[in-house]
Amino acid sequence: MTDHTTVHAPRISVIGTGYLGATHAAAMAEMGFDVVGVDTDPAKVEALSHGDVPFFEPGLPELLQRHVETGRLRFTTDLADAVAVSDVHFICVGTPQQTTSFAANLSYVEEATRSVAAALTHDGLIVGKSTVPVGTAARLRSLIVPALPEQVHAELVWNPEFLREGKAVDDTLHPDRIVFGGASAEAEALLRAVYALPIAAGTPVVACDLPTAELVKVSANAFLATKISFINAISEICEAADADVEQIAEALGYDARIGRQFLNAGLGFGGGCLPKDIRALMHRSAELGAFSAASLLQQVDEINMGQRQRVIDTTLDALGGSVLNRRIAVLGAAFKPHTDDVRDSPALNVAAALHLRGAQVVVYDPEAGTTAKRVYPTLGYAEDVETAVRGTDAVLVLTEWPEFAEADPAALARLTRGAQVIDGRNCLPAEEWEEAGWTVSRLGHARFSAPQPERVLRSVGTASRGRLLVDA
Ligand code: UGA
Repeated sequence: MTDHTTVHAPRISVIGTGYLGATHAAAMAEMGFDVVGVDTDPAKVEALSHGDVPFFEPGLPELLQRHVETGRLRFTTDLADAVAVSDVHFICVGTPQQTTSFAANLSYVEEATRSVAAALTHDGLIVGKSTVPVGTAARLRSLIVPALPEQVHAELVWNPEFLREGKAVDDTLHPDRIVFGGASAEAEALLRAVYALPIAAGTPVVACDLPTAELVKVSANAFLATKISFINAISEICEAADADVEQIAEALGYDARIGRQFLNAGLGFGGGCLPKDIRALMHRSAELGAFSAASLLQQVDEINMGQRQRVIDTTLDALGGSVLNRRIAVLGAAFKPHTDDVRDSPALNVAAALHLRGAQVVVYDPEAGTTAKRVYPTLGYAEDVETAVRGTDAVLVLTEWPEFAEADPAALARLTRGAQVIDGRNCLPAEEWEEAGWTVSRLGHARFSAPQPERVLRSVGTASRGRLLVDA
């Protein structure tokens, strides 16, 4: 690899312009580099070229527009052109779950990496950012060798990304840490030049080998998922023991070794990352014979999926054992607030399950209505909270958008047929809602601390009901 750093600032290509790639490309332009983003989807390239972001991500349209205008950032479908004018090539394509197993589908990463290698017109640094199973990068290294043109050298390193949707811009410009996997001294120098600004601002760099870098990423997501499932397991005990999971989270959070973040009990995690990443790691762990890791992750997944059932059971409880022909408002469709992403959304999963049980479900989400409708066209959709709530027998809050916590519970209560709310995210000011006449059910709280015999009888027929009957 030639030493581009001494000649000019490294020029950058970003292959794949989804959440990760579009944000990374815009952030690199913000850091002062010339950047070309590449995607196979002409419509996406067209939109991004006009500074339009085809998904909702706060702050990204402004950043993108700024740098499309400054000329530092452009988008193309022509990978060869982008590679020819660049020195550092970031691979940011998706690694979705395979349709027939928990393993990651690596075909896009393999194709992108091979194509970059084949298109190189001068020495280059290929930087993997996509989330991949441990061992992938080493295989990609051997894959690019036959693809490289003669006299051209390329080094492949791994530099995982930790950005969160909804906070993608800030996370990319100000990361908590930067990981360089498998970089030679020369490649590390080039990467340090690329990340000069955050490094100068104090972001720590961890330089390690390839498998370690790959594993850092998936371990981080696995730990976050485990933390959420841990508090959700505790929330189950809270319900049985009349304890309060939110106060437990608060008290645990004061312990610096534990920390308060990711201890919000409720409907559990979804999205395009945590679920598929823990499953891919589960699969890879089993392949490698690391069965304790695989079984831990299996349990994390099971607890998480069980939360969706618990919300469904709670709704059945609230409506006397059946939702057939009952009208239900589901507030929230995105997998978390501040995004319009509905991939593996727990909220939509519950909404669809209730619909399949015969409920009339009306969904409202401040940003994700359109994306949700594409995935679940058979559900009803409303344009605002009031329309969704009007005439309902129960209201489910399944994504913690600030708009829901700030709603006027008294005004909403007057619109309903039965003021029952299931707060699946523990995000409502419960006392205010109760004072306004609502019956509030929350996961991880003493829902049935004073069980009413009538309700207990109605519970027969579901697992949680059966348990309740015994307890009663
Ligand atoms: C996650 C990681 O947080 C990022 O660091 C990582 O870079 C990203 O995946 C990725 O691999 O690309 P993201 O998918 O945007 O980011 O979502 P999170 O903010 O992690 O939330 C995941 C889910 O957990 C959401 O459904 C959220 O509602 C849920 N959650 C979060 C809880 O149920 N409880 C909590 O306390 C926190």
